[in-house]
Amino acid sequence: MELVLDCKIDKATLQDKSDIVSLEALCFRAGIAFSKKQIAYLLKSPRADIYVMRWNETLAAYAIILKRKTCRGEVARLYSFAVKPELRGQGLGKKLMLECLEKLRRENIQTVFLEVEAENKSAIALYESVGFCRVARLKSYYGENQDGLKMKLTLT
Ligand SMILES: CC(C)(COP(=O)(O)OP(=O)(O)OC[C@H]1O[C@@H](n2cnc3c(N)ncnc32)[C@H](O)[C@@H]1OP(=O)(O)O)[C@@H](O)C(=O)NCCC(=O)NCCS
Repeated sequence: MELVLDCKIDKATLQDKSDIVSLEALCFRAGIAFSKKQIAYLLKSPRADIYVMRWNETLAAYAIILKRKTCRGEVARLYSFAVKPELRGQGLGKKLMLECLEKLRRENIQTVFLEVEAENKSAIALYESVGFCRVARLKSYYGENQDGLKMKLTLT
């Protein structure tokens, strides 16, 4: 529990770019992980919010959220989310997720979507623990025979 209390969450700046790129490459396989160029683009995009969680000056976790206007109001999409491997299982992911959802709620965003690999049990358990529901199975979304799940959360 202490680790969670010592973590600090901030909006990412361009200075966080290389740490985010490194953690993204560590957590996702080639072809799925965002490149340096994509992270740089997202950091500058007005439609993307990136939050970084630091522990002891190191990047412990990050969340990338895209926002777009639709005819039913603004919706958010969790675009990437990861915790440093050696810091997992200690509540950091859940703390970052809850804080991101709170920020979206304060911006009056009512709907959050995400896609996750159907076999990614830890991520699915985390998402369900904060209220996301499964809305569709996405056939071969992550490659041949690698299905995804689309999940949705309605913020109240
Ligand atoms: C998924 C991930 C973000 C979870 O982060 P974490 O900091 O380890 O998660 P937490 O410790 O906050 O756990 C929160 C909840 O998630 C679930 N969970 C986390 N790890 C789990 C595991 N290994 N097995 C089952 N459930 C797990 C549990 O419901 C847990 O709540 P509980 O501790 O009360 O049971 C982390 O494993 C990760 O970065 N994975 C690689 C990147 C990734 O797959 N990102 C998702 C892309 S869609």
